[in-house]
Amino acid sequence: MANLHGKTALVTGAASGLGAAAAWALARSGAAVLLTDRDLAGEEVAVAMADQGLKAAFRLHDVTSHPDWAAAVEEAVDRFGRLDILVNNAGIAGGRHELMDHSFDAWRQVLSVNLDGVFLGLRHAGPRIAAAGGGSVINVSSILGKVGMAGAAAYCASKGGVTLLTKAAALEWAPHNIRVNSIHPGFIDTPLVANALADRDDGNEMRVALMAAHPMARFGMPKEIGEAILFLASDASSFMTGAELVVDGGYTAQ
Ligand SMILES: NC(=O)c1ccc[n+]([C@@H]2O[C@H](COP(=O)([O-])OP(=O)(O)OC[C@H]3O[C@@H](n4cnc5c(N)ncnc54)[C@H](O)[C@@H]3O)[C@@H](O)[C@H]2O)c1
Repeated sequence: MANLHGKTALVTGAASGLGAAAAWALARSGAAVLLTDRDLAGEEVAVAMADQGLKAAFRLHDVTSHPDWAAAVEEAVDRFGRLDILVNNAGIAGGRHELMDHSFDAWRQVLSVNLDGVFLGLRHAGPRIAAAGGGSVINVSSILGKVGMAGAAAYCASKGGVTLLTKAAALEWAPHNIRVNSIHPGFIDTPLVANALADRDDGNEMRVALMAAHPMARFGMPKEIGEAILFLASDASSFMTGAELVVDGGYTAQ
């Protein structure tokens, strides 16, 4: 089991889905975790973790905001003494849009959360992780940061951006002993996917078709991504940087 005792992690989008699962996995391995989200529901996750004797706190945080990032990083360091691990997880699906009539506003909204948010995380947390002697950054991309999907241009562009932003950061920060990797989940059973399917008239058929697109014939569970994020955060992955960890039930193997 990974040993993260004495380490501090900041996880964005931790009120729900993959972020909450990552926060639980990191804390169970001994890390102190600052969960952040623009949704106050993250407070309940942090309280449930603290009730189990884990080191966890919550802060409201919009990842598109410079001041919010500065304050979140400050709080992690003030509260827990250092910052070693950053999980850039917050993201939105953005709905289905055909490029022929895609609004610029809808494009900008997805890019600002999914890509600008990751840039700001690197920008604000990087110096603090370097000051701690190094650490690990995990950027949550997607299978859609590796292969395209019709109707999801902005999402694919944002996640593809995260894939290459991760590699550039890994090259810059290897001398600082900061590893930077991306993770590429297939479709995982979270509110993000459930809501996207609920927005469609053919949501049920789409759910069946998407499951069938995974050779393992199911969606992944948040815990399966939380464990993979823990692997990238820990010394178990000590020679990995700039890598793409694909956890997709075989979706992109075809
Ligand atoms: N679920 C999947 O199938 C899947 C697959 C691949 C990648 N991902 C990625 O995983 C990440 C987590 O997704 P999820 O499925 O857990 O979704 P989710 O909707 O369950 O959780 C996302 C969280 O991010 C928060 N968030 C959204 N915008 C924010 C902002 N501007 N600032 C701060 N927090 C914000 C939401 O409040 C929410 O709590 C996203 O980046 C998503 O793109 C998800």
